[in-house]
Amino acid sequence: MNVYDSERMTGLLRPLGYSPTANPDEADLVILNTCHIREKAAEKVYSELGRLTEVKARGGKIAVAGCVAQAEGKEIKARAPQVDLVFGPQSYHHLPELIAKSAREAGLALETDFAAVEKFDALAEGRQADGYAAFVTIQEGCDKFCTFCVVPYTRGAEVSRGTDAIAAEVRDLAAQGVVEITLLGQNVNAWRGAAPAGATQDSLGLGGLCRHLAQIDGIERIRFTTSHPADMDDELIAAFADEPKLMPYLHLPVQSGADRILKAMNRRHTADTYIRMIERIRQARPDIAISGDMIVGFPGEDEGAFEETLALVEAVEYASCFSFKYSRRPGTPGATLPKQVAEDIKAERLQRLQALLERQKQHFNAQQVGKILPVLFEKPGREAGQLVGRSPYLQAVFAPLPDHALGQIVPVRILSTRPNSLEAAALDVAA
Ligand code: 5AD
Ligand code: SF4
Repeated sequence: MNVYDSERMTGLLRPLGYSPTANPDEADLVILNTCHIREKAAEKVYSELGRLTEVKARGGKIAVAGCVAQAEGKEIKARAPQVDLVFGPQSYHHLPELIAKSAREAGLALETDFAAVEKFDALAEGRQADGYAAFVTIQEGCDKFCTFCVVPYTRGAEVSRGTDAIAAEVRDLAAQGVVEITLLGQNVNAWRGAAPAGATQDSLGLGGLCRHLAQIDGIERIRFTTSHPADMDDELIAAFADEPKLMPYLHLPVQSGADRILKAMNRRHTADTYIRMIERIRQARPDIAISGDMIVGFPGEDEGAFEETLALVEAVEYASCFSFKYSRRPGTPGATLPKQVAEDIKAERLQRLQALLERQKQHFNAQQVGKILPVLFEKPGREAGQLVGRSPYLQAVFAPLPDHALGQIVPVRILSTRPNSLEAAALDVAA
């Protein structure tokens, strides 16, 4: 979502005469779009700010955007007085006004209010597509309050964007050549909206929205991220079964495999209900690839609880999975729980978990060898005469193809695997 938000900010600044530069030292304005999810990400902001001395020396401005801005607001000014603008994730559409204000008045321009719906549409207006795959925000915020997580505090309550506004943006992107859309939200499968005109039901869930968007000419692939297991409803599972444009790939974080820890995390599911949910989804779409998020070292996690996490991973067989050491976030209930886990134990568990997840990922990739997969080719590859694109399972695939295949979904034969990609051959048309 931060990548999407940064792209939109770039779009907003263009009419003001700004263009992107790869070199921060020559910038008139540097915006750090920040993440507050783990301490390490938040601390990076301050070390990055310390490095931006040239910008100020040349009279440029420095802005901090995103969730660190939202959560730490004025503290940023105290720790980094060189910062001119601070604005939270709900204020991006006010960026032009904030810049004008900061040019007019001395001191810090600060905005950290919540008004998500207004922002969705303001950011989408006049959007220029950049490539063949595009992110589309349809939901923001989270009401789940997992006890480790800052998102409900930094991004606010769950808000769904309207069906018609989403469809209008997707139609507009399709008209600009976009073939694949990824619907975004912190808790995207909690999305609900009004049914479009002529529909029999009153409202839609995410499954219905995917079917609705699948009817837009030019849109060939639909993805969404990130989902909560408790919001995987029947409508969405059914869409996986019979909407071929919905890609067979689902990111469904579980966080832990131990019920005691899941309860302390306020996850609202058990290891067993999660595994059964995955089984139901696989019944609906047998070729689906599952990805996830895992946290090791949540307070109270002992060796036995960690082994239950390993057992869940063995049972699910992930195509890919992100894993993190628990990071104590101020203001969240987890931060004050007893039995915090020592850093060296977290590091050791993370290593064991990641070794298992890496084996599963390599196994999943190896299973594709010999198959023909439809790949959306998006960019030139590493070598001349080669393109790179994405398989239905989000794997990067390199194949020898001419430039005119860019933006097309081309079936290719998978030949071999590399650590983070697949190599493929173009099909012999005559064969
Ligand atoms: N510590 C470690 N990982 C976290 N995540 C969220 N909050 C924390 C935290 N305090 C992870 C979860 C979530 C992903 C986006 O980040 O796994 O799904
Ligand atoms: Fe955070 Fe996701 Fe839990 Fe919401 S559902 S509180 S975003 S981990």
